[in-house]
Amino acid sequence: MSTTAPSQINDQPPRHVAIVMDGNGRWANQRHLPRVEGHRAGAKSVRMVVEESRRLGIRYLTLFAFSTENWQRPAEEVGALMGLFAQYLEHELTLMLKNDVRLRAIGDLARLPEAVRRSLCATMQKTERANGLDLILAISYGGREELTSACKSIASDVVQGKLNPDQITNQCIRDHLYAPDVPDPDLLIRTSDEYRISNFLLWQLAYSEIVVTPVLWPDFNKQEYMACLEAYNKRNRRFGLTSEQIEEARARACP
Ligand code: FPP
Repeated sequence: MSTTAPSQINDQPPRHVAIVMDGNGRWANQRHLPRVEGHRAGAKSVRMVVEESRRLGIRYLTLFAFSTENWQRPAEEVGALMGLFAQYLEHELTLMLKNDVRLRAIGDLARLPEAVRRSLCATMQKTERANGLDLILAISYGGREELTSACKSIASDVVQGKLNPDQITNQCIRDHLYAPDVPDPDLLIRTSDEYRISNFLLWQLAYSEIVVTPVLWPDFNKQEYMACLEAYNKRNRRFGLTSEQIEEARARACP
């Protein structure tokens, strides 16, 4: 499917929502708690967005759980986050299966501690047949790293004579990303009033609508999620075309 075509009429829920879950540290600081308590509280918001997304018929949900840059945080915080991920995977499996949620992961998974990687792989395998919602954890993930890895793989295909440089198109690059079958996010939500992409899905966010909320991630509740989805519904997505062209395309889709 072309990424620039008006594929989505905006009176439907987004097919793919991506979220930068920011503000856990500030939430904890405000309460004079260790940062890890902010992350722990943030796990509850994760559960809520997964349940609500499934209920609303959103097909893909990508959560930025841990960035390439986050490896540089204090070892204690990294260790606590890894523990939380393992705990989450263990606790949520039954609910994922019940709710037809398929777990997937994008990122440099080889860097994860063995125990986390094993839980992740086991959960992905046990949920692989689910097709209600794809929950994609971006973990040890960086957008630049994803593009670098795609470039290396394409270069290797060229060197081996499997690919001609003329065949390096947008589609070819997409085919070499971590999850090529996943459509681009329609909506990117970022919490805690930060207006940055932070190395998240650099290729895929080209035409995503961005909604930033001041709410810190642990306080992100159903009402806040609905408010972000309503803000998205009011957007006029044009994908670089004119409003007239979009109207014509809508008329053709729904005569
Ligand atoms: C950013 O907030 C958040 C993270 C680096 C980690 C996100 C992890 C969770 C929400 C924990 C649960 C996740 C799963 C998938 C179970 P920050 O620490 O940068 O906050 P700050 O900007 O206020 O310091």
